Amino acid sequence: MLASALVNENELYSAIGEDGFERLVAAFYRQIPGDDVLGPMYRGRDLAAAEHRLREFLIFRFGGPERYIELRGHPRLRARHAPFLVDQTARDRWLQLMGNALVEAQLPAEAEQMLRAFFESTGTFLINRQ
Ligand code: HEM
Repeated sequence: MLASALVNENELYSAIGEDGFERLVAAFYRQIPGDDVLGPMYRGRDLAAAEHRLREFLIFRFGGPERYIELRGHPRLRARHAPFLVDQTARDRWLQLMGNALVEAQLPAEAEQMLRAFFESTGTFLINRQ
């Protein structure tokens, strides 16, 4: 078995820090305005604020400071995505853009694998339309 430097999800924050999450989420959101599936969902929304919410959520979720909770309360991610049409196409595109962002951010391999697995399962959980 391969030894892993990361024992559990709560240690991801100390492994990649604010900077790792910052670079990842910035690389993801940079692709949003030009995306034909996801771009239209954000029309009229404040992209910088959306980027901030996702970054703070991930920092909280992976063992960092709980500023997301102070800002937004319990995540309630399914309820918060209910206004948006999240079908298989949207889910797959979200994962594709996040996959690009993961490549760009060049995080340690264990961190990247852990985040990929989390995004894939959460993306599936958030599907709310056939
Ligand atoms: C499956 C495809 C997905 C679509 C189409 C989608 C779309 C959106 C949209 C349009 C917003 C509103 C932006 C805003 O905050 O103003 C949003 C918010 C958010 N999304 Fe997603 N999302 C998806 C998957 C995910 C995944 C996998 C995660 C988990 C990492 C996630 C986490 C969040 C968070 C934390 C917010 C902010 C919630 C809040 O505090 O209001 N989303 N999403």
